[in-house]
Amino acid sequence: MKHINLLIILFLTLIFADSCQKMEPIAVIPEPLECSPKKGHFSLDEETFLCFSNFPEDKRDIQNTIREQYTKFFKLRPNLGDAESAGKNSILFEVNQKNDKSLGDEGYELTITGRRIVARANSAAGLFYAFQTLKQMSYGSLLADGGKPTIPCAKIKDRPRFAYRGAHLDVSRHFFDTDYIKKYLDRMAVYKLNKFHWHLTDDHGWRIQIDKYPALTQKGAWRPERSKWDTLHPVLPDEPMTYGGFYTKDQVREIIAYAAARNIDVIPEIEIPGHCSAILAAYPQFACDNYPYTVAVGPYWPPKAIMCAGNDGVLEFYKDVLQEVAELFPYPYIHIGGDEAFNDNWQVCPKCQQRIADKQLKDEMALQQWLMNEIEKYLKKLDKKAIIWDDIVSEDMVNMSTIMSWQDPKAAVIAANHGNDIIRCPTSHCYFNFYQDDPEKEPLAMTGLITLEKAYSFDPMPAGLSDKAKQHILGGQCNLWTEFINTPEQADYMIYPRICALAECVWTDPSHKDWKKFQNKVEMHTAFRKR
Ligand code: ACM
Ligand code: ZN
Repeated sequence: MKHINLLIILFLTLIFADSCQKMEPIAVIPEPLECSPKKGHFSLDEETFLCFSNFPEDKRDIQNTIREQYTKFFKLRPNLGDAESAGKNSILFEVNQKNDKSLGDEGYELTITGRRIVARANSAAGLFYAFQTLKQMSYGSLLADGGKPTIPCAKIKDRPRFAYRGAHLDVSRHFFDTDYIKKYLDRMAVYKLNKFHWHLTDDHGWRIQIDKYPALTQKGAWRPERSKWDTLHPVLPDEPMTYGGFYTKDQVREIIAYAAARNIDVIPEIEIPGHCSAILAAYPQFACDNYPYTVAVGPYWPPKAIMCAGNDGVLEFYKDVLQEVAELFPYPYIHIGGDEAFNDNWQVCPKCQQRIADKQLKDEMALQQWLMNEIEKYLKKLDKKAIIWDDIVSEDMVNMSTIMSWQDPKAAVIAANHGNDIIRCPTSHCYFNFYQDDPEKEPLAMTGLITLEKAYSFDPMPAGLSDKAKQHILGGQCNLWTEFINTPEQADYMIYPRICALAECVWTDPSHKDWKKFQNKVEMHTAFRKR
């Protein structure tokens, strides 16, 4: 009898304890498509099994990243298993045998109970994102006293609004080593961003090894170390060229693999035909004039350096470079620049004027169109596709490249109606090198103000598109130009927390965006990052 009484008390205690469990707040960025919180939570401990099922052979890198991140993040060594061992106290990551259309390529489904967690997706990418969601769901517990990891019970179904969700980094104005590039990729992956736009060449330094043109990195990657470069004064003949750096091909391969293991494609940018002082410092024969070009050391404006479009050697140079770049980067797209190509030199260059006459071109803008088209045709031969800044867009354009729309949305509308694919990163919302708060109180940054709220109001879909043209909007990205950003700490300062806003703008359906809720989530994420 005594035993029975004890059992009844124990039973009631358990029931009462369960009914007392509260729904815990869920602060996932970007906001999932569907999320139903339930009572209770799943606790992770040394006994927890981490189980993988049906991962494709060529996506084992993603499986390994989940395992490595689990160990590092939760500070727990998992017991590894498969679908068979996925019982009590387990987290199962299973690739669906049969495609579930409602999840798409990168979506996932999560069922979290007090007993176990099951994540399902059509792809390794989807499961990687399910794991990023789980990590974020544990922030509350890890911030609490004791810091034992728990994950609130819930049922989640999620998939992105856009396939292209990117972040750009300019490594020319200031060089960032591979350790920081990996950190940048990690920061992107947490927020389900999947395209890294690597701005590798510009006036202030050429950053990638090209075997056929060794001076690009021997000369073009280095400039004098000037702590202040906010006033222009040219490089002096005896100044040591000690500031800069570049990535070897092995380092590039290492970054590409690191990114792939986080479902991130790497898009290299080779600027054509402007922003080329670093090239001309190394190979002055590609200029229209005899000006003694150096790697640039200050934000002078406008940058007059431009490659001579009338010189056949220039076209050969770009083709050679792009061939090596294409061999290195597996992603089908290469960004070929095209922005801010100030063509004053073309206007007075006999070779450029001869090209305009030979090709019966209207003017210097048409000469740039011609050059970009030649490059685009060559990329096609290499089985690659071009991305070009929207400076190329005009009502009568023939170019079919993907357009990166950074200026007025009108260009995006014209190009989408023309049938070009579009990636949006307007200066109005996506330039995270602009101030994020009162310039009086902030460290020096590029003129312009994009507050977190402004960044959060970004909609990659421009107004005024037909349903057909809407299909051409691939998504969006943030841009981090580094004129005023010379350390990893400053780069982090500028992307956080605006990268959270960008992530929600490119992943979450607008009907699920909620600025108030987002602010609360950002507070929790900021506290977690700073803990
Ligand atoms: C750009 O900001 N010049 C693309
Ligand atoms: Zn010329």
